[in-house]
Amino acid sequence: CITVKELYRNTESYLDKEITVAGWVRSNRGSKAFGFLVMGDGSCFQTLQIVYHDNMGNFKEVSKLNVGAAVIVKGTLIATPEAKQPFEIQAAEVTVEGDSAPDYPLQKKRHSFEYLRTIPHLRARTNTFQAVFRVRSLIAYAIHQFFQEKGFVYVHTPLITGSDCEGAGEMFQVTTMDLNNIPKTEDGKIDYSQDFFGKETNLTVSGQLNGETYAMAFRDIYTFGPTFRAENSNTTRHAAEFWMIEPEMAFADLEDNMEVAEAMLKYVISYVLENAPEEMNFFNQFVDKGLLERLHGVLNSEFGHVTYTEAIEILEKNNDNFDYKVSWGCDLQTEHERYLTEQVFKRPIFVTDYPKDIKAFYMKLNEDGKTVAAMDCLVPGIGEIIGGSQREDDLGKLTGRMQELGLKEEDYGFYLDLRKYGSVRHSGFGLGFERCVMYLTGMGNIRDVIPFPRTVKNCEL
Ligand code: 4AD
Ligand code: MG
Repeated sequence: CITVKELYRNTESYLDKEITVAGWVRSNRGSKAFGFLVMGDGSCFQTLQIVYHDNMGNFKEVSKLNVGAAVIVKGTLIATPEAKQPFEIQAAEVTVEGDSAPDYPLQKKRHSFEYLRTIPHLRARTNTFQAVFRVRSLIAYAIHQFFQEKGFVYVHTPLITGSDCEGAGEMFQVTTMDLNNIPKTEDGKIDYSQDFFGKETNLTVSGQLNGETYAMAFRDIYTFGPTFRAENSNTTRHAAEFWMIEPEMAFADLEDNMEVAEAMLKYVISYVLENAPEEMNFFNQFVDKGLLERLHGVLNSEFGHVTYTEAIEILEKNNDNFDYKVSWGCDLQTEHERYLTEQVFKRPIFVTDYPKDIKAFYMKLNEDGKTVAAMDCLVPGIGEIIGGSQREDDLGKLTGRMQELGLKEEDYGFYLDLRKYGSVRHSGFGLGFERCVMYLTGMGNIRDVIPFPRTVKNCEL
């Protein structure tokens, strides 16, 4: 079978030859003696017109095919210089793999994203979602290529874990216990010794801690896998299940970390502009009119840099216009992140050196004793897309911080070992994959860039 994309790419080599194509019917107009069937196969936006005649044994069946039917067509590719489309197939044979019921929900009209979210199993058949998921696939490939070319080792970190990386208490528990009859110990606590793993476990919120252990063996590693957060925030940029890319580099400080993050984003943008020009033009035309100009702008400039303390000074001047007023020590909300990137810097920026109290326990304490060597990358339209830091590599400082936060040393023995056996300065970050896809496609809702979104009160399919 030849794809429609291949026919458009190398038309000359197929003209006037017999070929076979396979796909789904987009429209079908039959008359008494002949009919026109338009089909697509998911390889590109273009569709293919098939002309069929009543010399085919199953002419009647074919002329009645509904939108959505699956067909295999054998025929000759003919140039049609006068027509809208450059060529069509004169069918010799149309094999009906499966007709479609007349109530097929995707008829010709445009459907809203909200409606399409109610049929996630079918929406991938529309132009917009075909473009999104072709580009999503390419971005994943580009990310692997970026790190592999630099010699990073891809590490598969576990999805079920016994530790809490971010310490934000947003974990989904994993258990085989009967929730209607939870075993209790004598002092009334849950008796995890009777659970599958014999201890409390959860779905991972980040592969970082495991990733760090491998960075201490390979120097440069990255993870790329699903992560889970039971954040009760019903926003356009939060999902309960999302994918994260987490590089971790030994012998690297915060500056090195930001350099890699910026190079990675630029690499991925270039890759997608080069390898999915039609999809990117489509997004620019139908989804986000400023997209291409913005992405080219990113490639041609350096990311901005600002410390958290400087950012707060800038934001405080605009406090009247924020729903949530800022002051030193508070976490930045989306409205503040977007103000900084959209109004002040007008490009992606790194915000560094956040107060230690709003960041995770593992971040390296700065000399001021108040801030940590953290960096968040914020982009226009979305806000935070990357969170990262240099890690605390001093055993004493790390255990001190863990005590302050009430983290038990016995739960993090492996992590402390890294500071005992050949500790070295090291850094890493996490890129939210869906937010990256949103940024590169201009899609405005995280539910529309992941095939089967899981959000608060929503776990269809
Ligand atoms: O900033 P976060 O929480 O950082 C970490 O998890 C670190 N352990 C990463 C590291 O240093 N290795 O999350 C990283 C990124 C965020 O910047 C955001 O893009 C994305 O993950 N993210 C989410 N994306 C979708 N839905 C959610 N609920 C997300 N939470 C975080
Ligand atoms: Mg973060």
